[in-house]
Amino acid sequence: MEEINHVAVLDFGSQYTQLIVRRVRELGFFAKLYQPEDLAEIGKPGAIILSGGPMSTSHPDAPDIDFELLKGYGVPVLGVCYGMQLLNIKFGGSVEASDRREYGPAGLYPVACEGLYEGITDKSQVWMSHSDTVKNLGESCKVIAKNQHGTPVSLQWGESFYGIQFHPEVTHSHEGTRILHNFLLTAKELEPFRIEDFKRELIENIKKTVGDKQVVCGVSGGVDSTVLAVLLNEAGVNVRAIFVDQGLMRKNEAEEVKNNFHRLGVEIEAIDASKLFLGALAGEPDPEKKRVIIGNLFIDVFWDTVGNAEMLAQGTLYPDVIESASNDKSKASKIKTHHNRVDRILELQKQGKVLEPLAELFKDEVRELGHSLGIPDDILNRHPFPGPGLAVRCPGEITLERLNVIRDCDAIFINALKEHGWYDKVWQAYAGLIPVKTVGVKGDERSYEWATNLRAVISEDAMTADWVELPPSLLREVSNKILNEVSGINRVLYDISTKPPASIEWE
Ligand code: XMP
Repeated sequence: MEEINHVAVLDFGSQYTQLIVRRVRELGFFAKLYQPEDLAEIGKPGAIILSGGPMSTSHPDAPDIDFELLKGYGVPVLGVCYGMQLLNIKFGGSVEASDRREYGPAGLYPVACEGLYEGITDKSQVWMSHSDTVKNLGESCKVIAKNQHGTPVSLQWGESFYGIQFHPEVTHSHEGTRILHNFLLTAKELEPFRIEDFKRELIENIKKTVGDKQVVCGVSGGVDSTVLAVLLNEAGVNVRAIFVDQGLMRKNEAEEVKNNFHRLGVEIEAIDASKLFLGALAGEPDPEKKRVIIGNLFIDVFWDTVGNAEMLAQGTLYPDVIESASNDKSKASKIKTHHNRVDRILELQKQGKVLEPLAELFKDEVRELGHSLGIPDDILNRHPFPGPGLAVRCPGEITLERLNVIRDCDAIFINALKEHGWYDKVWQAYAGLIPVKTVGVKGDERSYEWATNLRAVISEDAMTADWVELPPSLLREVSNKILNEVSGINRVLYDISTKPPASIEWE
């Protein structure tokens, strides 16, 4: 959607580049990542940022930029680290190679409290990560900030080209976001991002691409696929939404998903494949093998139902796209990794028949889009739920009895979180099974029963997570209810492990 007024971020390979995109979006502007060689295809940007990168500008394979083309856009440009050094060379200056790396905090001393440094205090901490340094300044270049040793760390060439040697996008640069914002404010043609405009563009694009073809999409009840199906519906597309119940959903979830879609005016085809899945999983304790069985079977059931789909829509999000793009520098967006047998999808993708309308959005933006599509908050604020469902919360062999025990414990826990106002405060919560029998007393007899683990975490992106300090009274209430009502459980444990080293799920 190059038509959308945006900030083009050119990726020179720094590990922080995706964060620049994220920060710009947090500041209320649309941003997209491009490879430098695609500079001609960035549409009409309102500003351009050249990211950092691991190479030295003097390396024969160092990534380059078409400077005439860059200047031709006539918009403000910010070079970060490698980006700054490259700009200095393009303006006729030089860069000194060095084997020594400067890594860590430094103090920032703006020459004047204006432009990029409007409102920035002296000695503000910024984060450095570079080896090479600027030597001779390029044409029409002035130093606009130095570090504590008086070394230039920020340059300006002419009216609208800026460079910074530090990383404004990382939180260790304490006023980095403000500096980025100040830069964006110099971009007179840059307009704030409005999800309503984006939605309109998306719908126009979908109509144009799809025409009167039928589009198939899989729905799980999760946020992404729900927003996707409702968006297609809103675009007036002939959509076939398929929900595969693999028998690994939570208590009453299949019914809930059907009802939710009914409320949203999207009729879904629900396929009860639970017997098939449980049959295939029977007797298999190995976590990886269980995942493969579930992934393959899911694709089989889905494609058996779909037959010859003309088009397929997927709820791929921007982090999936940029992750795979920066991994292999390919522009093609990738299919989510739990789709193991992807040949058929790849074929459709080659033919341009895979639609990924959410592929430019982050999760919170998908929620915002869902909101503007009229999807109620109780659906949009659902916790993430893994593709393999309860299988990853049931270590060892999966049986219907074990799944039902998990379902009962989980329903009690989740309901209590909702009743006490904790559900929306945590990123994800669930009850799982520890299929180890320990001794307890029931009536007058000793009994040997399983344990359940309660897990509630906060996280920003699921890469790291911390356990939530739930009130002991809430935990006590949940524990009492589970021990009284769920047969097969005589112990309730609360998981107090951070990720890393633990993970959110148990398998
Ligand atoms: P972990 O357990 O790796 O989970 O800390 C991180 C997040 O990913 C979810 N998860 C999955 N989602 N397919 C998915 O679609 C999977 O195989 C899968 N495994 C874990 C998990 O629920 C958490 O939100």
